[in-house]
Amino acid sequence: MKLTIIGSGYVGLTTGACFAEVGHEVVCVDNNEQKVATLLEGRIPIYEPGLEELVHRNVAAGRLRFTTSTPEGVAHGTVVFIAVPTPPQPDGSVDLTYIERVAREIATSLTPDLGYRVIVDKSTVPVKTGEKVADTVRRYAPDGVEFDVVSNPEFLREGSAVGDLMEPDRIVIGANSDRAIAEMQRVYSPFVAPVLITDINSAELIKHAANSFLALKISYINHVARICEASGADVEKVADGIGMDERIGRSFLNAGLGYGGSCFPKDIAAFIHIADQLGTPFTLLKEVQAINGSMVSHFIDKIREKLWVFQDKKIAVWGLAFKANTDDVRSSVAIELIRRLAAEGAQISASDPKALDTARAAGLPDTVTLCESPLEAAQGAEALVIATEWLHFADVDFHEVRKQMHTPLVFDGRNLLDPSAMRHLGFEYHSIGRP
Ligand code: UDX
Ligand code: UDX
Repeated sequence: MKLTIIGSGYVGLTTGACFAEVGHEVVCVDNNEQKVATLLEGRIPIYEPGLEELVHRNVAAGRLRFTTSTPEGVAHGTVVFIAVPTPPQPDGSVDLTYIERVAREIATSLTPDLGYRVIVDKSTVPVKTGEKVADTVRRYAPDGVEFDVVSNPEFLREGSAVGDLMEPDRIVIGANSDRAIAEMQRVYSPFVAPVLITDINSAELIKHAANSFLALKISYINHVARICEASGADVEKVADGIGMDERIGRSFLNAGLGYGGSCFPKDIAAFIHIADQLGTPFTLLKEVQAINGSMVSHFIDKIREKLWVFQDKKIAVWGLAFKANTDDVRSSVAIELIRRLAAEGAQISASDPKALDTARAAGLPDTVTLCESPLEAAQGAEALVIATEWLHFADVDFHEVRKQMHTPLVFDGRNLLDPSAMRHLGFEYHSIGRP
């Protein structure tokens, strides 16, 4: 099929490349000229495992192209996906200006002779956005244009996006027309996954409800971790024990500094806002946010208990990305931790396998030094903090780390290392919810 993706970021580019991989002819549109120029030169603007070779292979096969032109994209694709940002506003509500603008651009690019078009919202949006997109397209499109609007939320995780897209748990298609459903089933026919067909509003809600539930699991285990710390229990054993119950499951029960990233913080805030607006306040989710926000403060208090005053102390921080296997630092808890330690006068030396450039671009305090290797960051440090769950950090030679550090004091904010092994190596080791 001929498909178009508008917005070629983490979601759009990966989705487009995966559609091309299964044989569709895909045009990816982006209004950022520099990004499109980079893609046309064969370079990938983001780090996502497996994406680069996927893009190269499909560009070479003629199944994947890039453009800045929405009319060109709309002329190409029978199905036009919208994957532009839906950033949060200060009150938690979603800024839908990009979605609205793209809906208008699509509308004015449509002509009756192009034939039927399916306009699919892939971005995470509040329930009822599909109705607004349909109204907008109807208002700005010329007479005689045939189209339907569909909600097809994306569940990919950064760092494993290609695998998540090629082998999804489920495909959700929210549509109010049989013709649109048939087109969407053709789009997804090469994928082996259960397909759930719903109305548009339900599909939109599924995305917010799913992300909120996952965030709830993380906050739940993080508070259990606090109870473990207060009682001498081990949160990993507790998570294993409850996770063996199939009804609960072990995934998303890893205690740590809390969730970050471009999705969970904004989606939970958005869902709270939507529920308030609909007159059904979701106070449970406010508690999820509160627990999440408390984890960094709690962790800093632990560090403070040992270092006392942070002024002029050298602290090594391993991890800048919001999670492992990505260069993305949007709403990264690691960055928040660094900013707060730096604000109290600590001299931070930080390292990350992939996120040095993105962290630099995001802007860090002057007292933060970025280091190419974890070992370099650890040199002369009075404490080492692990802020992102990169497995890579567990493979560092800790004999050497111990030699390089001023004081062998480790605070593991992601429970990445084995406490007894670390103590055996001569470190004073602290983690989250584990004795
Ligand atoms: C975005 C949203 O943040 C998320 O809510 C949604 O679920 C999917 O799309 P992501 O792909 O991670 O997620 O965002 P980003 O990497 O910023 O990519 C968005 C792209 O859209 C950027 O390349 C941007 O240049 C482009 N864009 C933005 C347009 O092409 N047109 C616009 O009007 C605005
Ligand atoms: C999430 C959803 O998982 C995905 O389905 C949706 O499409 C987009 O939002 P993503 O934000 O890429 O994906 O990463 P995810 O793996 O969900 O991690 C989010 C955050 O939670 C990270 O900061 C991670 O460190 C944290 N996390 C995750 C935990 O603290 N504990 C866990 O057990 C799992």
